[in-house]
Amino acid sequence: MCGIVGYLGPSQNSVQIVLEGLKRLEYRGYDSAGVSFIDEHNQMQNFKKAGKLENLKSELVGKNLVARTCIGHTRWATHGGVTDNNAHPHSNDILSIIHNGIIENAHDLKSQLEKEGVVFKSETDSESFLELVTFELRKGMPIAQAISQSFKKIHGNSSFVVLYPKTGEIYAIKRGAPLVAGINDVTSEALVSSDPYALAGMVHKLYFPEDEVLLHLSAGNHHLINFYELDLTKTKRYLSKKQDLSVQVSEKGEFEHFMLKEIHEQPELIRGLTQYYFGGEGYESLTRVAKLKPMRILVSACGTAAYAGMVAKDFFEGLNRIPTIVELASEFRYRNPIIQANDLGLFVSQSGETADTLAAQAMCKKAGIQTVSIVNVEGSTLFRDCDENLLIRAGVEIGVASTKAFTQQVLTARLLAAALSGKLDDADYRVKLAGKFSLLAERIDQLLANIDNIKNIAESIYHKKGFFYTGRGVYFPIALEGALKLKEIAYVHAEGYAAGELKHGPIALIDEDIVNIAIIAPDLYEKTISNVQENKARKGIIVGIGQLGDKEGTRLSDYYIGVDFKGLDELAPLYINVVNQLLAYYMAKFKGTDIDKPRNLAKSVTVE
Ligand code: AGP
Repeated sequence: MCGIVGYLGPSQNSVQIVLEGLKRLEYRGYDSAGVSFIDEHNQMQNFKKAGKLENLKSELVGKNLVARTCIGHTRWATHGGVTDNNAHPHSNDILSIIHNGIIENAHDLKSQLEKEGVVFKSETDSESFLELVTFELRKGMPIAQAISQSFKKIHGNSSFVVLYPKTGEIYAIKRGAPLVAGINDVTSEALVSSDPYALAGMVHKLYFPEDEVLLHLSAGNHHLINFYELDLTKTKRYLSKKQDLSVQVSEKGEFEHFMLKEIHEQPELIRGLTQYYFGGEGYESLTRVAKLKPMRILVSACGTAAYAGMVAKDFFEGLNRIPTIVELASEFRYRNPIIQANDLGLFVSQSGETADTLAAQAMCKKAGIQTVSIVNVEGSTLFRDCDENLLIRAGVEIGVASTKAFTQQVLTARLLAAALSGKLDDADYRVKLAGKFSLLAERIDQLLANIDNIKNIAESIYHKKGFFYTGRGVYFPIALEGALKLKEIAYVHAEGYAAGELKHGPIALIDEDIVNIAIIAPDLYEKTISNVQENKARKGIIVGIGQLGDKEGTRLSDYYIGVDFKGLDELAPLYINVVNQLLAYYMAKFKGTDIDKPRNLAKSVTVE
């Protein structure tokens, strides 16, 4: 996912403001960056460089950066290699554009424009939009119409921001990709971005435009930002809300990495979630979803969010006895799934911008069923597209490897199960459940205060050839999630496996260089122990995660992490998951990888 920031206002420091916004979006992952601005002589200046933001800043040293209007971009390459030329903004002598998403028909558009004599400078799909708009402008079409007409020709999910030097104004538009705008009506500043977090502390009000709404940022506008339909009639198709993100979330504080900070934030966030849903404004959204009476629940998500959905299945089937099907959104959307009239579509997502998850939701909506999100970003595309939303209240998650969002997603699903059980109005039921949430927070606090054993184990095994995370029942998705964390940040091969499955083939891989991180939970204990014995018999290294003081588990394990399952019941998987988060974090730390911004990864995958 690329980072987009645009600024228009009285400050002559617009370039630094945009660079600050881009810096906040670094966590999303990128491989090049650039800015376009209109200098004090009303000339457009363009600078862009492959590599980190620092490379771009070096280009700007000594340059006259006095400018009131600026757009900037951090690119995560989809079409075209990582080169200065392919970096955004893409500009010519008339205007400059930045893009997030994919233009699926770029090849055809470029061929048509080349026949008209256009010469492309980059390998990117994005440049075709620049030249489409320019082509219309050269024919005398006014800028807003040129953008609107060109946008209609674009296929695929994209958001664009256009800088028009002739009037010193900014335009923006999107379809199926994130775009947010904001104003500071005290300082008369207008900003636009792909992520509300880039605008934190700079604006008082946020606007989330719907698809195909053209934004016009202009000092001449009474409200700084005007909103139009593609036929250029004014529109109200946008959501607006007070900006309540604080800037300090962008600091690591005493932590070496955002990921570690976010692991440590979990107890407080769990307490905050309970308060929000049981004692605050969240209760109303729970009562609304409580009215839904689905015969089945279809869960669709990607990555970590999908594993949260798999844990949630255990709630919906175990507690509510509602048949629940969990599918990877990238699979669900292409296999012509059976969607029945009284199904409930449930979509789990931290960003609310994951392309496959959005597509799965659109399919369910088209099929006419109710759709509910379990989402972190209020105002995100998923948030706006679903009939109901349950916010996970995880705050901004900067680490690319999702930690606190997973915990909050699962707990929010547990609250949905409570709502669907019809027991939400039972005060005793709520008190009991809130007590379990609080116990989970307490157990995680205790775990975080005693990490030496985990750290030492990580140091002993981080260099091993491969890792099998194993678990049974609801601990199978925890094994999947634990393996994903390690893959993402330590770049080592790891697999999550149902403990009972290893003997059906994968056990052939077990040897003294393979580590089995075995979750030995009280449920199905005997079966799990025999699986551990199977691995041990083949010289596998065993890291057992099980009840404190469990003799058999301790005896069989080369390394044992004792935890206390008591009283946590259906929430215990989240406690074990924090052990896996810490194991992955410290193994990556010993490996020396870029934990917060792992190679090849983006925080939100807005492309297919
Ligand atoms: C999780 O650690 C990964 N970064 C990734 O799997 C992520 O969970 C997935 O891309 C889904 O993102 P979303 O929750 O924003 O939809």
